[in-house]
Amino acid sequence: MSDSSVDLSKAVGFEFDPQEVSWNKRDLIVYALGIGAKKDDLSLVYELHPSFTPFPTYPAVLGYKGTDHDTNVYAERASLKSAPGLPKFDPNRGIHAYQTLEVLKPLPTVSGPGWKLKRRLTTVQENKSGIIVEAEILLVSPDGTPYAKIYSAGFNLGAKAHGTKFAKSIGGPPKAPAIPQREPDYVFQDQTTPEQAAIYRLSGDYNPLHIDPRIGQKTGFGGVILHGLSTYGFGARALVNTIGGGDPNALKYIGVRFTSPVIPGDALETRAWDVGPAPSSAGEGLREIAFETKVVKTGKVVLGSGHAYVKKAAGGAKL
Ligand SMILES: *[C@@H]1O[C@H](CO)[C@@H](O)[C@H](O)[C@H]1NC(C)=O
Repeated sequence: MSDSSVDLSKAVGFEFDPQEVSWNKRDLIVYALGIGAKKDDLSLVYELHPSFTPFPTYPAVLGYKGTDHDTNVYAERASLKSAPGLPKFDPNRGIHAYQTLEVLKPLPTVSGPGWKLKRRLTTVQENKSGIIVEAEILLVSPDGTPYAKIYSAGFNLGAKAHGTKFAKSIGGPPKAPAIPQREPDYVFQDQTTPEQAAIYRLSGDYNPLHIDPRIGQKTGFGGVILHGLSTYGFGARALVNTIGGGDPNALKYIGVRFTSPVIPGDALETRAWDVGPAPSSAGEGLREIAFETKVVKTGKVVLGSGHAYVKKAAGGAKL
């Protein structure tokens, strides 16, 4: 490749134009159902419930949703993410590699106008199989207060820039702890439904891969696959339900690697280990958690290198 506009070091630090985003209670309920909330999880699915609250990972969908209330065209959304210095990526060979979210302040249930996502590229790495690009995304309120900090990384299979090893980073999430060599402290089983992806996409990620079986077949998965960020939400709910005593606001940070896809209808099992106190910079009295989520039927890990900071419910029963 002798395209002189390609210079990976130029991409690192690039700031995109801020993206306006908005949400309302209905969006929060649709999202909660997309990540597997059940009819009895009234604080997530019933807007008149006295403890109705946004699920803390909700900001992860806002880059797909923007301010839309209707469906959007996925291909148009995705093309907005190119940056100077990066080669052209094949959208069909992009893989969501990892995702983290840190809660800085609890979200209001209705945004109103003026909220924005501020996105900058913090890490670019090239190796023999492709290029990985990590973005840091801040959700900020109209007065500029940050509410959530996200890192999201995509691996672009087959992409080439310099054709040599390259790595530059000016930021990134905390390093995930290793999974201890002992039985987990918490185990949570859950069921995705055959309609899980059809519901999840209503939160803003209308990639046809998750609804059109003809596209799903071409990918070699034999049909549609669930959105990685829906599985992410299932992992987050598992930690809230086991460690946080069912209080969504107990979850302050969650990061995962997407290691294998989930087929809508798969049963999932999340295994979590309390590995000690979380760094005090993360908040008062939080526990540091290592976890992974598997498909029950195949035993395949779908969320790997799981890492979270969670406020443990008083008297919360360990296994
Ligand atoms: C390149 O990086 C990706 C993403 O971290 C990884 O999955 C892949 O195994 C790496 N390939 C090589 C050849 O190192």
